[in-house]
Amino acid sequence: MSYQIAIDGPAGAGKSTIARKVAREKNFIYVDTGAMYRAMAYHLLEEGADPENDSEIAEKCEGADITISFENGEQVVLLNGKNVNHVLRTEAVGNMASAVVSRNPQVRQRLTVLQKELAEKNNVVMDGRDIGTCVLPEADVKVYLTASARIRAKRRFDELAAKGEAGDMDQIEADIIKRDEQDMNRKIAPLRQAEDAVLIDSSRMTIEEVVHTILNLCR
Ligand code: DC
Repeated sequence: MSYQIAIDGPAGAGKSTIARKVAREKNFIYVDTGAMYRAMAYHLLEEGADPENDSEIAEKCEGADITISFENGEQVVLLNGKNVNHVLRTEAVGNMASAVVSRNPQVRQRLTVLQKELAEKNNVVMDGRDIGTCVLPEADVKVYLTASARIRAKRRFDELAAKGEAGDMDQIEADIIKRDEQDMNRKIAPLRQAEDAVLIDSSRMTIEEVVHTILNLCR
C-alpha cells in the first residue's frame, strides 16, 4: 500500500512550496494537480475556445491528452506529448483553470483517474482543491492549508516584487477572493475542508513550521 498525504486549500496558501518540501523530506513524489487543470486551460487558450460555449469547451477538452511524468523528482505535464510546465503559471491560465476547466465534469473525471493511479503506484504528497474529499478520501494524512486573503495577497505581491514586477496589493487580494469564491462554490468537487483533515492556518507560521507540523502528523 502506498502512503498518501493530501494537501488542499485556497489559492496562494503556499501548498506547492510546502508539499514539495514535505515530499523531499519523505522521499515521496509530489503531485501538483493544479498544473493538470492549468494544462487543460492552456490548451483552451491556445485553441481560442470561447469560455462561454460549454459544448465547444467540452469538445476541445476531449481533444487534449494530458499525461504526467517525473524528471529528477519534478513533475512534468505533457499536453499532447509536449512538456508545457513553463507556460502554466500565468494569471490568464490560472483564471481559465478556475473559472472554466475545473467546472467541467468530464475533465474532472479524467484527471481524477490519473491522480488516483499515481497515488496507487507511488507514495505521494498531492496538493489541490479536492484531494482529501474526492481524489484520495482514504489518504493517511489530510491537511487543509489556509491563510488570510490579505496575507496570501502580500506573499504574492512579494513574489512578484522579487522578480522585479510591480503588483497592486488590493487588486491581487480581490483576485484571490474571486478565485476562492469560484473554487468553493462550483457544483462538482468544490474546495472544502474534509471532515478528517487537519486545519493549518499559516498566516503567522514560517514555511519550516508548516512543514514540521505536517511531518509530525505522519508519525
Ligand atoms: O493550485 P492552482 O492555482 O495551480 O490551481 C488552478 C485552478 O485549478 C484552481 O483555481 C482550481 C483548479 N483545481 C481544481 O479544481 N482541483 C484541483 N485538485 C486543483 C486545481
